[in-house]
Amino acid sequence: MRKKIVAGNWKMNLTFDEGQKLTTEIVNMYKDENIKDVTVVLNPPFVHLFPVKKLVGDTPNLFLGGQNCSDKASGAFTGETSAPMLKSFGATYVIIGHSERREYFNESNELLTAKVKQALENGLTPIFCCGEPLEIREAGTHEDYVKNQLTESLFGLSDEDFAKIVIAYEPIWAIGTGKTASSDQAQEMHKALRDHLASKYGQEAADNTSILYGGSCNPGNAKDIFSKADVDGGLIGGASLKSRDFVDIIKSF
Ligand code: 13P
Repeated sequence: MRKKIVAGNWKMNLTFDEGQKLTTEIVNMYKDENIKDVTVVLNPPFVHLFPVKKLVGDTPNLFLGGQNCSDKASGAFTGETSAPMLKSFGATYVIIGHSERREYFNESNELLTAKVKQALENGLTPIFCCGEPLEIREAGTHEDYVKNQLTESLFGLSDEDFAKIVIAYEPIWAIGTGKTASSDQAQEMHKALRDHLASKYGQEAADNTSILYGGSCNPGNAKDIFSKADVDGGLIGGASLKSRDFVDIIKSF
């Protein structure tokens, strides 16, 4: 059975003290409010990983992830962070191919294939992001566009490696805009993606793949979005920076 997952992507936000405060609040609420059956992943900036890990400790179902990793294992690549480093600092997940990485850092589907490989070789679960810009949605070609992102970056994986992937569908027009996709739009795309995955890896593998929705998710809309059959959780940006909002989203299943 596929996992329900809520991941918080802090993006490039929060100082050391702010990160510590947020994490402490989330961990306390998480324990006090007896949350069960949801995998929670905190994805802070790299420099927060170690101190955040110390606060999270061995809290069941609460994990750490990077927001990106290098496509190389090590070497003279100033400013980069490798998958083995993430692993060694306690991360077990890594976001790969976020639309902001694709857009501002020119990350291609081909480069993302190499990053996914690095993550998998080092025992990290990739949260692989996909999603269309507004003009593609308006042209009505969004399903093909997003399916192609999966085909080009993931369809070279073996069955065994594919089984370790988490997908996050994040329509670019809904990210940070306050304009969320409707739950029906999310369901329609998630179903199309699951069918696409089934065409390559079989129905059982597709049914076991968690597909998260991301884009202006908040405590007010999460319940509706998460109630859809093919939506298995969320990748949360802005609302993951507020402990109460983030924990309320986790409790929205
Ligand atoms: P918002 O929740 O701020 O729209 O961001 C979504 C996102 O990009 C998560 O990766």
